[in-house]
Amino acid sequence: MSEKGKFYITTPIYYPSDNLHIGHAYCSTAADSMARFKKLTGYDTFFLTGTDEHGQKIERKAREKGVTPQAYVDHIVEGIQKLWKQMDIDYDDFIRTTDERHVQCVQKVFRKLYEQGDIYKSEYEGWYCTPCESFWTELQLKDGKCPDCGRPVEKAKEESYFFRMSKYQDWMIDYIREHPDFIQPTSRANEMIKNFLEPGLEDLCVSRTSIRWGIPVDFDSRHTVYVWVDALTNYISALGYGTEHDEKYRRYWPADVHLVGKEIVRFHTIIWPIMLHAIGEPLPHQVFGHGWLVIDGKKMGKSVGNVVDPVILCDRYSSDAVRYFLMREMPFGSDGEFTLKAMLSRINADLANDLGNLVSRTVAMIEKYYGGPVPASGACEEVDTALRGLALRTAGQVEEYMNAFQFSSALSEIWKLVGECNRYIDLTAPWILGRSEESRPRLNTVLYTLAECVRRVAVMIGFVMPRTPGRIFEQLGVTQPEMKDWNSLTDGVFEHLKPGTVVHKGEALFPRLDIQKELERDQPESTPAASPAPAAAAPKPQKTHPRTEYPENITLDDFGIIRLQAARVLSCEKVEKSKKLLKMQVSLGPDGERQVVSGIAAYYTPEEMVGRQVVMVTNLKPARLAGIESQGMILCASSKDDSALKLLTVDDGMEDGALIG
Ligand code: MSP
Repeated sequence: MSEKGKFYITTPIYYPSDNLHIGHAYCSTAADSMARFKKLTGYDTFFLTGTDEHGQKIERKAREKGVTPQAYVDHIVEGIQKLWKQMDIDYDDFIRTTDERHVQCVQKVFRKLYEQGDIYKSEYEGWYCTPCESFWTELQLKDGKCPDCGRPVEKAKEESYFFRMSKYQDWMIDYIREHPDFIQPTSRANEMIKNFLEPGLEDLCVSRTSIRWGIPVDFDSRHTVYVWVDALTNYISALGYGTEHDEKYRRYWPADVHLVGKEIVRFHTIIWPIMLHAIGEPLPHQVFGHGWLVIDGKKMGKSVGNVVDPVILCDRYSSDAVRYFLMREMPFGSDGEFTLKAMLSRINADLANDLGNLVSRTVAMIEKYYGGPVPASGACEEVDTALRGLALRTAGQVEEYMNAFQFSSALSEIWKLVGECNRYIDLTAPWILGRSEESRPRLNTVLYTLAECVRRVAVMIGFVMPRTPGRIFEQLGVTQPEMKDWNSLTDGVFEHLKPGTVVHKGEALFPRLDIQKELERDQPESTPAASPAPAAAAPKPQKTHPRTEYPENITLDDFGIIRLQAARVLSCEKVEKSKKLLKMQVSLGPDGERQVVSGIAAYYTPEEMVGRQVVMVTNLKPARLAGIESQGMILCASSKDDSALKLLTVDDGMEDGALIG
């Protein structure tokens, strides 16, 4: 049993009404990342997900397809489980509301409530929204439609059992007020009190006679249990509540957190706690209502027809990249626009460039200067101590953010370290240290520091990107389990990696994507693809030494027509059959990427160029050098006789694409 205690986390159970989209995957990815994080940091964790298989919606869908509801859900649930496997959603249990263990638990809870007088028989007359499986009164409807989803509602009039919610209204308001952490983000708690509790709770209709596809009320089999009462009970039925084998219930309940989308916070913070309180069980510690993935401001969903298929994204860009994007792009409580372009840009910037380059440069330099084994560190200078200090602090900061469900900020802390490592390479210039024996002790320290930082980054990213750490450890030659453990980040000691560990350069972690090509991939021929790449303009073939007669007294207007920008070298290679030319891909940040060919091969190696921020003329007309298009010019200072050449860089670095002038 873990020293830190237990952590029980759940996702909502999904409707198997159709294929799940990336919006559904958002919630599961968050829950999985949190569960992995808690496991990694020493908690005895239990992560539950599953499917919500009863109700009118499923009954009708199955009828339309001409199959039984059970056959219909079995098929879809198989697909959902396959998707979770592909996305590395590593749940501890998957509950289906058609499981016998669940059915019995729901019947038991329903009977208990009935026997103690909290459920009574009466007649329901009102409205029902089948897509939301929600009851509404005439007054609650918005323009005669469902106030939640805006779709048509149906009249319902039938004998029903009712749950005395009204009895618990004051208790519920007090509970929410006295437990400010119960509903997160806090704004959602105010919404619940103002919109649902203070106006007055009505007793809830909890059974139907018109719906057959549901759990029968065992003492009155003409009735089936209302799907939300059925579904919410999954959080305890999966733990064996009310059975002889309730060890898990005793160990893990109450849940530490139910993660749910904001539209179903109402069910989880009013109906569910009142049910639990009525049966004398403790409430979950927290219900966290996350935001939606939206497209053009509208919730991604099948009814709007704007869904994005996670299977395609994972097949094309890897599940780690998709998971990273989902957790990095927007704060967890808020809505976030999903665009493919934003995702591809993040993959290129954060994964291919920042992380990928750091790993490949570190490993390549250790191979180049030491033939494989990581050197033992020498003494540290200020620059080394600063980076090591940051590396030592990062894990603690990640823990703080994760404990507050701030996935994006946690990742941003890790990427601050990645960015500082890349800057450290630029500052310490190992390729210069590698030129002389005298500077070997410095080189030892620099490359050891980098290798250990890379190891730390690999340990830290695993909860969001479960596949990538293994690939980094393989390149670093790290095999010992204790080197992959969170404890190796938090003991206050920097040097964990054993000198002599042999590195092996591997494939690029995340291949750079041609964003334009990817955006055009699924576009029908007649529709124009997303915005074209910024046009490059006006140039002449680049010379390494364009010294000439310059006119004096030019005006600012003369100077101002040249657009100079900070450009980050993303990749660089020699141009075949040319001694002078290097071909580079550079990033101008929000202005996209360019290819540039520059005559600096006699002065800089490709490895020295990758990761640097250079100064570039970005409004030159594209030119061809050795048959390769160059979309700009990189600026250098050169000595009169051309024997020396130095790149112009931006002191201390700026964001990529920053204007210079
Ligand atoms: N079956 C109920 C939950 C019962 S829990 C006791 C349900 N199912 S659902 O399949 O419609 O939704 C499951 C989860 O996916 C919800 O938390 C919902 O908010 C989430 N999402 C569905 N579309 C989403 C987005 N576009 N964006 C983010 N989350 C989304 O509700």
